[in-house]
Amino acid sequence: MAAIILDGNRIAAQIKTEIGQEVCRLSDAGFRPGLAVILAGHNPASEIYVRNKVKSCEQLGILSESIGPPQSVSTKELLEIVGRLNQRDEIDGILVQLPLPEQVDAKSVLLAVAPEKDVDGFHPVNVGNLSTQRPGLVPCTPAGVIEILRRSNLPIEGRNAVVIGRSDIVGKPVAMLLLNNNATVTVCHSKTINIAQIARQADILVAAIGKPGFVTREFVKPGATVIDVGINKVTDKKEFERFFAGDTSRERTFLEKGSTLVGDVHPHVKELAGALTPVPGGVGPLTIAMLMANTVKACQMRRGKVARGRE
Ligand code: GUN
Repeated sequence: MAAIILDGNRIAAQIKTEIGQEVCRLSDAGFRPGLAVILAGHNPASEIYVRNKVKSCEQLGILSESIGPPQSVSTKELLEIVGRLNQRDEIDGILVQLPLPEQVDAKSVLLAVAPEKDVDGFHPVNVGNLSTQRPGLVPCTPAGVIEILRRSNLPIEGRNAVVIGRSDIVGKPVAMLLLNNNATVTVCHSKTINIAQIARQADILVAAIGKPGFVTREFVKPGATVIDVGINKVTDKKEFERFFAGDTSRERTFLEKGSTLVGDVHPHVKELAGALTPVPGGVGPLTIAMLMANTVKACQMRRGKVARGRE
């Protein structure tokens, strides 16, 4: 039986509607949430991401500001930009778009973001808050994975969850969130022996490795929930055919655009999984929705009880 397709666009729209209402309430109370995005230099993918983030802020009524220092920006200059944003009361969230130019010490820039404005959840204080189950800001994509499961009524508690990938941005925090939701969690990575056999134990399988179509049928227990965090651009015709031969609508877009997106999960897994997030249109839309949610949360936490409304 074919998998249920978990529609990330629908879930993200639902979250944005809720956030929009909260932004209205906060703005009426005199606390309009504000997000500053720093995009250093020119990276075409980052430019698209940042444009979408700013557009979502506009849709929801969140104040947004983008700051675009040149490719040649130094660590010191970025630290000064972050320092000024930390001081500004109308800015609730600060996002430093990654990757930063290579001469920049990215770790020290991320460390300079005030933890209460760290809407990416990358600051060690927020990483610590997550791992010790204290209130704080949680990385957006991992939070989105949990929202997809929750809003699709897919239980986490007591389930075997396997995460493939151990990045600081996705793999580790998603594993921690699953653990905090009482799953039994295994994290696999490039040095893991027999990944497929371990992955096949999973009731919930999260793929976050950045390798197109890495997760094939042998990795999946029939009926498992498969969450595909990968976004990989395929431009090679042979590679395209390995994934999408016979898929006429994909063939049409590939011919028109010269590329298509494929996740870390091979498309044939949908014949076996119980539920599956598509690429595009699965986890991706949630990342921005959760960034908006984090900006509102940062505003509420920073403004205290008065901005949180009824409790
Ligand atoms: N670049 C790619 N993904 C992300 C993300 O989640 N946050 C930031 N800041 N930069 C990114």
